Amino acid sequence: MTKIFMTGVTGLVGSAFVTALLRDCPDTQFVCLARGGKNRTAMDRVGEALRSQCEFEGTPERFDEIIAHISVVDSDVVTMDPAVIAADPAAAGSDVIFHCAADVNLGKDPTGKTFRINYEGTVHMLELAKLLKVKAFHYVSTAYVAGCKKGVSMEAEAEDSGFNNPYEESKFKAEKLVRRSGIPFTIYRPAIITGRRSDGRIRRPLAFYRIIEFLAKMKSHHCKKAGIDPTGMVDLKIHFETLPSERIYFVPIDYVQYAIAKCFQLPVENGTYHVTGDSPVSTMMLDEAVCKTLNIAMMDVSIRKENNETAKLMERFLGDLYPYYSADVIFSQDNVRRALGDAALAWKYGSKELEIMMKNYFVDFYPDVEWIQKVIGNL
Ligand SMILES: NC(=O)c1ccc[n+]([C@@H]2O[C@H](COP(=O)([O-])OP(=O)(O)OC[C@H]3O[C@@H](n4cnc5c(N)ncnc54)[C@H](OP(=O)(O)O)[C@@H]3O)[C@@H](O)[C@H]2O)c1
Repeated sequence: MTKIFMTGVTGLVGSAFVTALLRDCPDTQFVCLARGGKNRTAMDRVGEALRSQCEFEGTPERFDEIIAHISVVDSDVVTMDPAVIAADPAAAGSDVIFHCAADVNLGKDPTGKTFRINYEGTVHMLELAKLLKVKAFHYVSTAYVAGCKKGVSMEAEAEDSGFNNPYEESKFKAEKLVRRSGIPFTIYRPAIITGRRSDGRIRRPLAFYRIIEFLAKMKSHHCKKAGIDPTGMVDLKIHFETLPSERIYFVPIDYVQYAIAKCFQLPVENGTYHVTGDSPVSTMMLDEAVCKTLNIAMMDVSIRKENNETAKLMERFLGDLYPYYSADVIFSQDNVRRALGDAALAWKYGSKELEIMMKNYFVDFYPDVEWIQKVIGNL
C-alpha cells in the first residue's frame, strides 16, 4: 500500500489525479492538505470536490469508495508549520508527496500572494518531505516555466528566458527548489488545460475560458445598447492585440489526468514530463471557433495597438492571457513519449473539437442565458 501526502485535491488537476490513481492502484491511501472555507470544513470541501469529479467522470457511484481512501489535514501551504504537520498522526508513514497546490492567477501579483503560495508553499512542502523522510517528491509545475522562450523547450531544467508574469516566475523558482532538494523527484508540466477529448467538458474552467466568457458578455452588452437581436451575426470589431501563433498548447484534462497518473507509477528518476500533448492549436483556429460559436464576425489579430474603449477593456480583462496566444515555443515530448508510448500522444485538437468544447462550456456554465443557448443550437 502506498500512502501519498498531497496538496491541491480540491482543484482541477488534484481531484482528477486521485480518481485516476485509485482506478489503477486501488490500495493507495491519500492524506490531503486542504483549506476549509466559509462554513465548510476542509473535509467538506475535499468531499465536494471529489464527488463533483466522480460525477464529472460519469461514475458518481465511485465516490463512497474513493472517500474511504482519503484523510484530510486542515492547513494552508503558506501558513503551515511543517513540523506540526509532520507530527500529525494522519501524515505518519507517508511514502511520497504529490504537491499540486498553486495559485494559477496569471495577472500581476501586487501583494505577493502568488509567490507566497507557489514558492514559499513549495519550500514548506519540501521541508515536510524531509521531516516525513518520503521516498519521492512529485511536483506539478507548468510547461510555461519556459517563460518567454522561443524554440524548443526540453523536458529538463528550464533556463531563465524572462517571464510573462509572476506566476511563471514563481513556478520556475519553485521547480528549481525541487530539483535542488536532494529528494528524488518527478516533475509534471501541463500546458493550458481545457475540456476533455470526448465532449470538451471541464469541471473547473480556468484561463482560456475567460476569453469566451468575456466575448459573450461583450456581445450581449453591445446588442442591448444597439437594440439588436444577440442571436444574429454581429461584428463587434474586436482587435486581439497579439502576434498570431501556431503553437497554443491546449491540453485536454483527461489527457493530463492519464499522463500524470501513469507517469506517477513509473520509477522516480528525477524525470520531467511535458504534459502538453503534441497537437497545439493556432490563433486562427481559435478565432474561427470562437466566432462560429458566438456568431460574431472574425476578430482582427495583430500586434497593431488600438486605443479605443474596447481595446482598453480587453487589455484590462484579458491582457494577462495575450502572451499565451502569441507563444512561439515547442514543448519537446521525448520523455513523455518514452514513458507513455506514441499512441498516448496520437490525439489532435482540431477546429471541430474546439467548437464542441466552447459550446459545451456554455451549455454547462450559462444554461439560463437564452440567447447563448439559441446561438449554440441548444434551444
Ligand atoms: N489549470 C491549468 O491550465 C494549469 C496549467 C499548467 C499547470 N497547472 C498547474 O497544475 C496545478 C494544479 O492547478 P489546477 O489547474 O488544479 O488549479 P486549481 O483548480 O485552481 O487548483 C489549485 C489547488 O491549489 C490549492 N491551493 C491554492 N492555494 C493554496 C494554499 N495557500 N494552501 C493550500 N492549498 C492551496 C487550491 O485549494 P483551494 O480549493 O482551497 O483554493 C486547489 O486545490 C498547479 O500547480 C498549477 O500550477 C495548471
